[in-house]
Amino acid sequence: MRNRVIIGGQWGDEGKGKIVDALSRDVDWVLRYQGGANAGHTIHIGPEKHVLHLIPSGILHPGVRCLLGCGMVVDPWSLRDEIIGLEERGFQVRDRLRVAAGAALLMPYHTRLDELREAKLSRHSIGTTGRGIGPAYLDKVQRTGLRMGDLLLATDRLERKVIDKVLSANEALGAMYGAEPLPARVLAEELVVLAQSLAPLVVDAHTALAGVRAGRESALFEGAQGTMLDIDHGTYPYVTSSNTTVGGALTGTGLPPAALGEIHGVFKAYCTRVGNGPFPSELLGEAGDRLREAGGEFGATTGRARRCGWFDAVAARYSVDINGMTGVMITKLDVLDTQESVPVAVAYDLDGEQFDVYPTVGEVLPRCRPIYREFPGWRESLSDCRALADLPPAARAYLAFLEEVLGTRIVGVSVGRDRSQMIWTPDGVTG
Ligand code: IMP
Repeated sequence: MRNRVIIGGQWGDEGKGKIVDALSRDVDWVLRYQGGANAGHTIHIGPEKHVLHLIPSGILHPGVRCLLGCGMVVDPWSLRDEIIGLEERGFQVRDRLRVAAGAALLMPYHTRLDELREAKLSRHSIGTTGRGIGPAYLDKVQRTGLRMGDLLLATDRLERKVIDKVLSANEALGAMYGAEPLPARVLAEELVVLAQSLAPLVVDAHTALAGVRAGRESALFEGAQGTMLDIDHGTYPYVTSSNTTVGGALTGTGLPPAALGEIHGVFKAYCTRVGNGPFPSELLGEAGDRLREAGGEFGATTGRARRCGWFDAVAARYSVDINGMTGVMITKLDVLDTQESVPVAVAYDLDGEQFDVYPTVGEVLPRCRPIYREFPGWRESLSDCRALADLPPAARAYLAFLEEVLGTRIVGVSVGRDRSQMIWTPDGVTG
């Protein structure tokens, strides 16, 4: 089986968790390579709902090993809670979960700095998840951060290091925001306790992934967030602080390009975005509310209502290009079941001029107005469809158009939230 990278094609929340869950049954490794507990991957198995923030969805399959790669920012308090939560529900975690020693440690001062910075930016805020992601990556790139490997230090050295870090973070908190200092000794003591529980999971990822590098073991790369939130290729500054695109899978695991295999993008059959920033095909008012209700579009991490809109083929094509996607999956097609017609943004209008190439110059996108092409709705439930032939002609026509406009095969279609509600189309929907 070829390795696969699963990448969010839009602004995150495309349903990657379900796809990764479905594809990870037979792989040796599932690898997370960027982001942190800002992600919220929801998987429904029968009546049970699992929401994972740090641990890859592959953990729900016995025998699959999971790695949090060096491109991640890991909040050890959240990681401990997530492990305990899974163990309480009967999953064996500790013998299958590994964390790269090079992954950055996300500390409470990062979370505090994130909250205070957002509050100060007020209406110009990014609308972050408040999980400390930006400040943790800042600490990493300015080469002052703690790493998961530090949990392997002798207790007195770890304590000293944490106290020094908290004291310097307190200076920044005080100087920049006039904020109360965090209790350095308490945090150091807590981290020492966390280290006792998490240190056995910390590994040299280069060695742990030797089998993947040699082609003896298979890997599924689990992306978090989405292409349009990429720090370099997204709608900057309204982005997250990591490379959510394909390059992140390399730098965030240390595996070479030949290990990637297929690059599969996940796209919702419409669009959503959480937080601020441009969103050309956004539906405001009642139409947006209806789509939000139909799709249950509320954040898995923050509970925030997601902004909703129609499929944006201009942005989606850019996403296919940037990542070199070799196939795409369309999720939540069933959410459109009751629509009379389904519009797709096929071009943008800028000051009376039309174009269909996504603009990467910052100031342009917010001024673009979408130009729609309408597709007839199918007005029946897709939730029991399990093969392409089960889909009504109008739903097939919609998919065929998406395949054509994206220029790559649709290899899977999700028609409901349960694990079983998938249509696999390895040869595409028009082939
Ligand atoms: P941060 O990653 O918490 O710094 O947030 C930066 C931006 O990315 C905000 O617009 C968030 O709403 C968005 N974001 C971060 N993680 C996710 C996610 O998992 N799904 C959707 N949006 C996200």
